[in-house]
Amino acid sequence: MIVLGIETSCDECSCSIVENGNRILSSVVATQIELHTPYLGVVPELASRLHIQWIDQVVKRSVKEAGLTLKDIDAIAYTNRPGLMGSLLVGVNFSKALAYGLNIPSIGIDHIRAHLYASQMEHPLEYPYLGLLVSGGHTVICIVESYDKVNVIGTTIDDAIGEAFDKVAKHYDMGYPGGVAIDNLSKKGNDKAYLFPGAKLNKKVHMFDISYSGLKTAVINQKDKFWDKFSEQSNENIAASFQRQAIGMLMKKVEEAIKYTNIRKLAAGGGVAANSLLREKLKNLKHVEVAFPSMKLCTDNGAMIAGLGYHYLVNNVTSGLDENAYARVKAFKKSSF
Ligand code: KG4
Ligand code: ZN
Repeated sequence: MIVLGIETSCDECSCSIVENGNRILSSVVATQIELHTPYLGVVPELASRLHIQWIDQVVKRSVKEAGLTLKDIDAIAYTNRPGLMGSLLVGVNFSKALAYGLNIPSIGIDHIRAHLYASQMEHPLEYPYLGLLVSGGHTVICIVESYDKVNVIGTTIDDAIGEAFDKVAKHYDMGYPGGVAIDNLSKKGNDKAYLFPGAKLNKKVHMFDISYSGLKTAVINQKDKFWDKFSEQSNENIAASFQRQAIGMLMKKVEEAIKYTNIRKLAAGGGVAANSLLREKLKNLKHVEVAFPSMKLCTDNGAMIAGLGYHYLVNNVTSGLDENAYARVKAFKKSSF
């Protein structure tokens, strides 16, 4: 079965063709990073207009690179939630129109589930496994029970981890996108130059939850108010110290979740899963089978959408032409624990 996947939830305009859920025949990712760089963040209106301009060419190129024609496609999977509304609408409408024109089924896909699926295209784990989703908008620890069933056991109670990386980088003018900039600067910094605070949450209520707003504020205030004259003042040191704490806090929760659930398989996903320190720490987890996506499948891409779409298709779960776009989804709120 050949599924064409379209991803336009944020600032990547992407189309990929995937066979049987894991064989990537082509993957085109047209990134808008350069166009948003002057604003040090994604400008939603600009993002959606660029998707409108680019999507036709991105899809055409993806079909060509796969060595196929549109007639070879069995279904179209597209991100319809969550994301920037204007950006989502472009992909949703383009996909539905294309599917209608080709007289093939279309499937609206949850972007977050697709991030959790991405590692499975390269390193499949048997269900259930623990899922760690770390992106610009989400920080979720969950039990993945099937391609379609996810039980969230922990989440951020305020900022997402990627958001904290982006805001710190913006405040210190470290570069854009923030996560990559901090990751790179950290390699040259002293990660113990600053001892930034972690988060103390009530364990009874927030067993596997996490909070990044305190850390983010402390790092930002370090510059404005409490610049320590005894420390070596450099962006490298700030980046390394922040990253050590941000990833350390996350790993603590991950280790607790492994211990509590006794599930010894873990799949990571989302843009922050590209972080070198996180990857190193995950690799070093003892007696845990860890799957994380290769770099190209960490950040937003159409391949994970097509890959997950295949599983809906073979289970006869498809969407109608009245399928809508949703900026937020309830499914990734905590359901138990
Ligand atoms: O999954 P993604 O591409 O988009 C969302 O669904 O949000 O994730 C983007 C996030 C951004 O916050 C970006 O700064 C972060 O992933 N990111 C990283 C790294 N590469 C991307 N964060 C830390 N280290 C990285 N190497
Ligand atoms: Zn994403």
